[in-house]
Amino acid sequence: MTVEAIRKVGVLGCGLMGAGIAQVAATAGYPTVVKEVGEEFLKKGMAGIEKSLAKFVEKGTLTIEQRSETLARLKGTTKFEDLADCDIVIEAITENLQTKRETFAAIDGIVKPTSIFASNTSSLVITEMMTATKRVDRFIGMHFFNPVPLMKLVEIVGTITTSSDVLDLTMKFGASLGKVPIRTSDRSGFIVNRLLVPYLLDAIRALEEGVGSVEDIDKGMKLGCGYPMGPFTLLDFVGLETTYYIANIMYEEFREKRFAPPPLLKRLVLAGHHGRKTGRGFYDHQDPANPKPLF
Ligand code: CAA
Repeated sequence: MTVEAIRKVGVLGCGLMGAGIAQVAATAGYPTVVKEVGEEFLKKGMAGIEKSLAKFVEKGTLTIEQRSETLARLKGTTKFEDLADCDIVIEAITENLQTKRETFAAIDGIVKPTSIFASNTSSLVITEMMTATKRVDRFIGMHFFNPVPLMKLVEIVGTITTSSDVLDLTMKFGASLGKVPIRTSDRSGFIVNRLLVPYLLDAIRALEEGVGSVEDIDKGMKLGCGYPMGPFTLLDFVGLETTYYIANIMYEEFREKRFAPPPLLKRLVLAGHHGRKTGRGFYDHQDPANPKPLF
């Protein structure tokens, strides 16, 4: 069931997260427009959406008609103007504060003033983005998880100026996307990354200290604790450069050792070994179905 006050959804960015968010919005029944900087990025994002929808059809969780209806509700664009009449715009562009501030400032004068602006940032401060706009009461965080079409959670982040109506509406909107929304405050990492990031960094420290191999530490958490992926598989899945970036922001915010990126993570990032996306991280992913541990 869609939320009545939201008639059209805008998404900024059609990368992994933006494409996933656009996909779940369109699947839930919302006319959705997704904006990218160039046609090539749009094409790539849309291809990912079609692939994911095809998987759901294959599994029988989506009918062929539902897939066609979803795709018909989705529109790609390279123009900010196409977001003008959206009731909510969710930003999922690159994790760079300055770029995000510039983007929000640019759309603030284009998108109708009643629209809600949401950021999918995983670690940047929402308040710092919000001040680039004049709608500080209608600005919020909506943090989704990778892969967005499968992960059930969305963190809803209120700032000290977010109105309670906007918070309530965004919670309902999150639920209408088939997600379970949880409320959190504007502190770097919110709930999940505050707990997840130190855990991932600790796994790297354990490896550095010789506590166990990549494979054994992964097996330990997967089979001993029932986690769907061990920490190194997850690190390679999320991207080592992403984890490094988030850890640095959290370290800067809290100045606590547990958020400090370990030297091995830094070295792998510097070497360009970012995990699955570059074919190498803690595992060699040349054969994606059979990753080989490298440590
Ligand atoms: N769309 C549709 N279907 C998809 C899909 C997608 N994008 N990705 C995978 N699937 C399907 C697969 O095709 C597969 O289907 P079958 O069962 O028919 O084979 C099914 O989902 C399960 O996938 P896999 O067999 O490949 O692997 P899995 O059973 O391990 O499940 C997973 C995959 C759901 C990702 C699971 O491993 C998992 O939950 N992992 C943890 C992910 C996680 O922690 N994500 C959060 C990252 S942190 C983050 O996002 C926040 C941040 O700020 C950094």
